[in-house]
Amino acid sequence: MLVSAPAKVNLHLEVLRRRPDGYHDLETLMVAVGLYDTLEFKDDSTGDVRLSCDRSDLSTGPDNLVWRAVELLRRHASSALGATIRLWKRIPLAAGLAGGSSDAAAALAGLNVLWRLGLSNAELSGLGAELGSDVSFFFAAPAAWCTGRGEIVRPLRLPRPLYFVLACPSVGLSTAEVFRNLAVPDRPASGEAICRAVEAGDVEEIGRRLHNRLQPVAERLCPAVTQLRARLAALNPAGVLMSGSGSTLFALCRDADEALCVSRGLLPLTPLPAIGERGKGEDGDGPRIHSVRSCI
Ligand code: C5P
Repeated sequence: MLVSAPAKVNLHLEVLRRRPDGYHDLETLMVAVGLYDTLEFKDDSTGDVRLSCDRSDLSTGPDNLVWRAVELLRRHASSALGATIRLWKRIPLAAGLAGGSSDAAAALAGLNVLWRLGLSNAELSGLGAELGSDVSFFFAAPAAWCTGRGEIVRPLRLPRPLYFVLACPSVGLSTAEVFRNLAVPDRPASGEAICRAVEAGDVEEIGRRLHNRLQPVAERLCPAVTQLRARLAALNPAGVLMSGSGSTLFALCRDADEALCVSRGLLPLTPLPAIGERGKGEDGDGPRIHSVRSCI
C-alpha cells in the first residue's frame, strides 16, 4: 500500500503566549500543498516493524516520527502486528513544511488501514497530537485554522486551488531555536481577514494579509531567508512569506502561469544539473524550487 504525505505552508502564523510546558499557543492557517513524501506499507507476519528511507542522513530509529507513530499506534491498539515501511523523502528537512509530521500522519492513516484497526479520523488526529504540534492538521487538510500548540484544528473551505512557488534554502532552521529567539508580541495580529479571504478564494487579499511572526526571527538567524525573500518579492507575486519556522519561503501566485514565471525568475539561482547528475540544490549548494498547487 502506498500513501502520499503532502507538505504544508502557513499563510498566517501568530504567537499568542508562552505556555508553562515550554510550548507556545498559536493561531495559524495551514494549507496542504502538492509536494509529497511517499510511504509504502507491507504486512510483516513476524510482528517486526522495519523502517527504511532513501535519505541516508535521516534516522530510521526511534527519533524518526514515523517510528514513533508506529509505536504509539501499536500501544494504543494493543497490537503486535508488524509492517515493513519504506519512506521516500521529497519534502526538505527543517524547512517549515512539516514533512516529518506529515509522514507521521500518513503512517497512522496507512497502518490503520493495513492492520484493519478501524480507528476514526478524530482518534488518529488525537494520536497525532501526541507526536507533534503539526500532525493533527493532516487529518483536516487541505486547509485548516489551527490553535493551541497547533493541534486544535478547524477545517476551512478552499473554494479554488492556490498556486505557490516554494523556495527552500539549502540551510534549514530548528523550530525549537526559532521559538527560543522569539519575543511574544504585546498585540497579536488577527487572522480573521485572511480566513475570510481564503474561504472567498480572493488571492490578492490573501497575498496582502500574509503574516508570520516567526519570520523576523528566522531572518536574523539565517541571512539566506532575507536574500530569498527580496528575490521572490522582486518577481511581483500576490504575496511572499516564510512557512512555519522556516527556512522555506513561498510566493503566492495568481495562477499556474504566474507560478511558472516566478519559478523561471529564480532559475539563475539553481543551475540545472546535467542529465545523470544530482541537482546542485539537492546537494546543498543552492535553494530548491518547487512549483506546487494546494491539495484539493
Ligand atoms: O511539536 P513539535 O515537536 O513540532 O515542536 C518542536 C519544537 O518547537 C518544540 O519543542 C518547541 O520548542 C517549539 N514549539 C513551540 N510552540 C509550538 C510548537 C512548537 O514552542 N506551538
